[in-house]
Amino acid sequence: MIKTAVMGYGVVGSGVYEILRKNADVIAKRLGEEIDIKYILDIREFENHPEKELFVKDANVIAEDKEVEIVVETMGGVTFAYEFTKKMLMAGKSVVTSNKELVSTKGTELFEIAREHNAAYMFEAAVGGGIPVIRPLVNCLAANRIKAVCGILNGTTNYILTKMFKENRSFDAALKEAQESGYAEKNPAADVEGTDTVRKIAILTALAFGSNIDDNKIPAEGITKITSEDVSCAAKAGYAIKLMGSSFIEGDKVFARVCPMLVPYECPLAGVEDVFNAVQFTGDMVGNVMLYGRGAGKSATASAIVGDIMHIAKRNEFDPRFAWGEERENTFIDPADTRYKYFMRSESSEEEIKEAFGCVKFIEGCSDAFITEEMSEAECEKKGEKIDISSKIRVYEVKE
Ligand code: HSE
Repeated sequence: MIKTAVMGYGVVGSGVYEILRKNADVIAKRLGEEIDIKYILDIREFENHPEKELFVKDANVIAEDKEVEIVVETMGGVTFAYEFTKKMLMAGKSVVTSNKELVSTKGTELFEIAREHNAAYMFEAAVGGGIPVIRPLVNCLAANRIKAVCGILNGTTNYILTKMFKENRSFDAALKEAQESGYAEKNPAADVEGTDTVRKIAILTALAFGSNIDDNKIPAEGITKITSEDVSCAAKAGYAIKLMGSSFIEGDKVFARVCPMLVPYECPLAGVEDVFNAVQFTGDMVGNVMLYGRGAGKSATASAIVGDIMHIAKRNEFDPRFAWGEERENTFIDPADTRYKYFMRSESSEEEIKEAFGCVKFIEGCSDAFITEEMSEAECEKKGEKIDISSKIRVYEVKE
């Protein structure tokens, strides 16, 4: 029997407990061994819990118990979660987490500690919730050089944008509905300003290209400035607006960005609606591979965690394929040099727009909206100084 502990009995932590109890039979059958929960760490009282004897308040109880082999970290944040994760890895225990903030900011250091103590540090649940993303990348696509990664990585913003697209809601009205439906937090800043997506694309980029990416270097724009007019004009031109995390590698240089983008209807990413997420990897041999499913939620995220526990249970050691090294210096492409087509809305006259941007495509049925030719960010900035621009959104280019 494999003994585990869960640190943090919130939504996801309790989901892990429930899966390990509800699906104990199939898990044991597939693994050839049972998985038991010996402790649950939480500072709160759970007097009415059917297994209240499992609860402890001191992380040392878990760290010092030699029977516990695998510890789940579903505490969130980077203070206690960081301290306790280090403690467990140093005690030689493997750790499974859904904590994207911790993995994206401290992953490199935690992998090193895991390596020193021959323990695993696994994070399938940190990106794409229940969608298998990390192991397909590391295992099934291992024969490829990954050229690009992109995805709709945040359920809350995708729900809001879908409401704006399908029901013509304003951003504020759609956000309110997302909060009422329990999708968006009371303080939705990390979701709507793109921070949550930054953490997820930082993890995927580091894993795909092999070295750490500082979250702070990734230019990020959220969806707070997207208007219902933007959404309907984009729709008339054949595009859905999505908050995209994307990255690519060119030679030894990498780039990652989070921003809303116009995605053409013919691209499967445009059809990813509501709280669903999708991740697309572009491999040099396989081409584009898209993984789709529930990017958040209790059972979906806990499903990914239990999958990691079962993976570790078979091979409980540090596996360098699930880690990355230090950031390489001077390898991050200058955002000003990246190139896009741009969707814009402007009150300036057609002549002024043409004078500023040259050949543009005006959108039928939206007198103030047009799409430019491809140009660099720096060029677009400079040309844009000549006219009044109320909206500027990058256009996603489908590449194979
Ligand atoms: N707030 C996140 C989302 C939860 O909406 O996708 C999962 O990371």
